[in-house]
Amino acid sequence: MTLYQNIIILTGAGISAESGLATFRNKGGIWKKYDLMKLATPEAFASNPDLVHEFYNARRSGLKKVNPNAAHYALARLDEKYPGNITLITQNVDPLHERAGSRNLLHMHGELNKARCVSCHSICPWFNDLFSQSICPGCGKAGNMRPHIVWFGEIPFHIEQINIRLAQCDLFISIGTSGNVYPAAGFVQAAQDFGAETVELNLEPTDSRNLFSVAHYGKATEIVPEYVADLIRQE
Ligand code: OAD
Repeated sequence: MTLYQNIIILTGAGISAESGLATFRNKGGIWKKYDLMKLATPEAFASNPDLVHEFYNARRSGLKKVNPNAAHYALARLDEKYPGNITLITQNVDPLHERAGSRNLLHMHGELNKARCVSCHSICPWFNDLFSQSICPGCGKAGNMRPHIVWFGEIPFHIEQINIRLAQCDLFISIGTSGNVYPAAGFVQAAQDFGAETVELNLEPTDSRNLFSVAHYGKATEIVPEYVADLIRQE
């Protein structure tokens, strides 16, 4: 059986759906209800910061009511039990992977439970509402705090590190992401070009389905624990 040396797992909103967090593009998804250009761009924040804060405050307060599900726990178990290196890259801004116990985790689109000062650049934990006049715990100045979220038009976090890991990976697993947002949407092609086996775990086939050599379709809470159990058994 194959022992993979370097596994990359990319997760998206679908892995947190059964925890009660909305996805973005499915029926009832966040970007079906809200105009992303008015809420998730640097321009939107510059022209109406209160509206942007209100949107992210609601999402941050929603995190208090949700818990990791069986798919998050399965990935934490893989991290603990598998002898190869595991890098978990998430596009999600919720804290459910870390709450489940995953360790080698890169939040490429930021984190709802952090805020950043655009003046002194400090990043700090933030669990309550954020306002235009919130004070930065780092420099003590008011008026410069923003959600620590990557908006459309901004460069995601950890990209250099991710590119290095993609070049080394021998198994790439994509879970619960529609593959609509770059650069994350391009990772599967990069991994395939570097010779990795590619696996899609999703509720349904995505537009990138033909880039995956293996695919399992169904609910994340069912197919992720099954796939992880097989990987652990195979090593
Ligand atoms: P999307 O909403 O685009 O896609 C969610 C994917 O999850 C779809 O392919 C669904 O089929 C799948 N899905 C839904 N429920 C599922 C379940 N129970 N089990 C398994 N799969 C399920 O979300 P993302 O691909 O994560 O960026 O979106 C990428 C980025 O777009 C987000 O990180 C966010 C958004 O704009 C920022 O906010 C910067």
